[in-house]
Amino acid sequence: MINTLKLGFVLSLITLFVACGDSSKSSEVVNVYTHRHYKADDELFTKFTEETGIKVNIVNASADELIQRLETEGKDSNADILITVDAGRLYRAQSKDLLQPIRSKILETNIGPEFREKEGHWYGLTYRARIIAYAKDRVNPEEIKTYEDLADPKWKGKIVIRSSENVYNQSLMASIILADGEEKAKEWAEGVVANMARNPKGSDRDQVKAVASGEGDIAVVNTYYIGLLLNDENVEERKAGESVGIIFPNQDGRGTHINVSGIGVAKHAPNKENAVKLMEFLSDEKAQQTLANLNYEYPINPKATKASILKTWGDFKTDPVELYKLGEYNSRAVMIFDEAGWK
Ligand SMILES: [Fe+2]
Repeated sequence: MINTLKLGFVLSLITLFVACGDSSKSSEVVNVYTHRHYKADDELFTKFTEETGIKVNIVNASADELIQRLETEGKDSNADILITVDAGRLYRAQSKDLLQPIRSKILETNIGPEFREKEGHWYGLTYRARIIAYAKDRVNPEEIKTYEDLADPKWKGKIVIRSSENVYNQSLMASIILADGEEKAKEWAEGVVANMARNPKGSDRDQVKAVASGEGDIAVVNTYYIGLLLNDENVEERKAGESVGIIFPNQDGRGTHINVSGIGVAKHAPNKENAVKLMEFLSDEKAQQTLANLNYEYPINPKATKASILKTWGDFKTDPVELYKLGEYNSRAVMIFDEAGWK
């Protein structure tokens, strides 16, 4: 497994070098290190190249691998842009001095201050809500109002949720620490662990499928995975999506936890202008609409509208915690998960 991963990494490196060659310093490329893995992104990169003539070279790996690689490469890095699926990793890249501040009227118009780093080290691309999905035929949604409710012993053996190594859970935990304090956050994690139907494994999609198959009754997932399941070509995936209802937690209190997928310009970006152009392109109403329609994410540009399935879920109150704090509290979150025995 590790060898396959390493091989994949080396191959993507080769692809990058073949793709850029000596032209990486010219104005016709932008080199993107991205943790995102969605069709919508590929479509947008192609469109960007069509409109601008700037070729987009992609290196795909986990955010941790990409950050490590940026550190190792230092000044010699070809990377122009880092894209991650959460604010926590952007914060980490910024604190390691791997990003540079960008000022752009277009970005500042398209992206509200709550969705960007104040000096411009990173900008949000989309946001996602981490919601509770429940088996429609077995759970009364009136009985779960908050994330905190998941620790109630009445859900013993009912909860499926992914590993604590997953950054979406780490950021959720960071938000719970910020709202409830460390002690209560730990008690919450212990309560959830005690209620788990199985040891954490798989992706968010897998949790929904585990609810569909009856392995558990309640899952914690990002909204767009429900959208993707409901619109999948595969009938089994669609059925899994249809079998669950959605709860936006903490609506009577602080609001539902959200996180952003975001972009920053690499500190030593050889093609900084192109990097900014790509960021501006992605923040534009049209690109935002593509992300909303194809990937069921919430657009950050208010001119773009939610996908219709998301509209049917209605508006919801979001936890107003500043996104960089999710990064600040990431290591505490990981520690608490460990102490609680959340695998
Ligand atoms: Fe994801």
